[in-house]
Amino acid sequence: MKLQSGQVAVVTGAANGIGRALSEALHARGIRVVLADIDGEALAQAAAEIGPETVAVPTDVSDPAQVQRLADATLEHFGRVDLIFNNAGLSAGGPIWLVEPGDWRRIWSVNVEGVVNGMRTFVPLLIAAGRGHVVNTASLAGITTGMFNGPYAASKHAVVALTEVLRGELALLAPEIGATVVCPGPVDTQMMRAVTDGIGALLGDGDGDALPPQPAEGWFAALSPGQWQRLAPTLAPIIHLAAEMMPAARAAEIILAAVESDRLYVTTHPHWTPQVTDRVTRMVADLDAST
Ligand SMILES: NC(=O)c1ccc[n+]([C@@H]2O[C@H](COP(=O)([O-])OP(=O)(O)OC[C@H]3O[C@@H](n4cnc5c(N)ncnc54)[C@H](O)[C@@H]3O)[C@@H](O)[C@H]2O)c1
Repeated sequence: MKLQSGQVAVVTGAANGIGRALSEALHARGIRVVLADIDGEALAQAAAEIGPETVAVPTDVSDPAQVQRLADATLEHFGRVDLIFNNAGLSAGGPIWLVEPGDWRRIWSVNVEGVVNGMRTFVPLLIAAGRGHVVNTASLAGITTGMFNGPYAASKHAVVALTEVLRGELALLAPEIGATVVCPGPVDTQMMRAVTDGIGALLGDGDGDALPPQPAEGWFAALSPGQWQRLAPTLAPIIHLAAEMMPAARAAEIILAAVESDRLYVTTHPHWTPQVTDRVTRMVADLDAST
C-alpha cells in the first residue's frame, strides 16, 4: 500500500520501542497517528513529543471492548482509518514446565488475543473503506524456535499463522486490503534491553570460566544445582545480542518499506534467515521419512 500524507494509522504498543518509532516514522510522512498503549502516562508523553495530528488513546489490547473504543476514537477524531499496526507485545521466559499459568495467560492474551482483537475490530473498517493494510508484529521467534521462551515463541508462531491466513482470506474476499507480518530480530528497545541487561547482571564480569552464582529468584532459582551448571555457560551469547541490536527507528523504516511493497513477511535481520531454512529442511526431511 502506498503511504501518503493524510492517511490515518493506528499503532498499538506505541508508547515505547518499535511502536513509538513506527508512530514517528508515520508522522514524518504526514500520516495522522492514533497511538494506543496500556501505559497511559508514557503514551501521553510519546504523543506530545511526536507532535500535532496525533491522538493518544490508552488501550489494553487484550480487552476487545477497549480495542473497539480505540476504533471509535479513531473515527471520531479523524473520520477514517487506513493502517492498523498490531504491535503491542510482552515476553516471558523459562523452561515450559516452570512457566506459571498466569504468565501463559498474560502472554497469550496480549500477543495473540491482542492481535486478534485488532484484526476483528479494524479489518471490517478497512473493508468498508475499500483500502488499507494490516501489520501484525510477530518475531524471528515466530519462525524459528529457541529454548526458554516457550510462551513467547508459541504466541509469535500464532501471529505468523494468523497473518498468513488473513492474507489469503483478504486476497479472496477483499483484495484491496494488504497484510504483513513483522519478524524482528533484536531491536534496541526496553523489552530487548531487559533481556540482555538481565543476563549481563547475572553473569557479571567473570572470566567466563567460573560458574556464576545461581540466582535466588525467578525461574533460575527453581533449577537444581546440576541444571544450573549446565545452563549457565550457554547464557553468555545472549549478552552479545546487544551488539546485534538495530535502532528502533531503522526497524520502523524497514517495516514501512515492506508495507509499501506489499510483502507478507519482513524482518530486521535477513542474515538470520538461514535458521529458518535449517528448520524447514529438517522438518521436510523428517516428514519425507514418515511411513
Ligand atoms: N525489541 C525486539 O528485539 C523485538 C524482537 C522481536 C519482536 N518484537 C516485538 O515487537 C513488538 C514491540 O516490542 P518492543 O521491543 O518495542 O517492546 P517495548 O516493551 O519497548 O514496547 C512494547 C509496548 O507495548 C505496550 N503494551 C504491553 N502490553 C500492552 C497491552 N496489553 N495493551 C497495549 N499495550 C501494551 C507496553 O506498554 C510498551 O509500551 C512486540 O510485539 C515484541 O514482541 C520485539
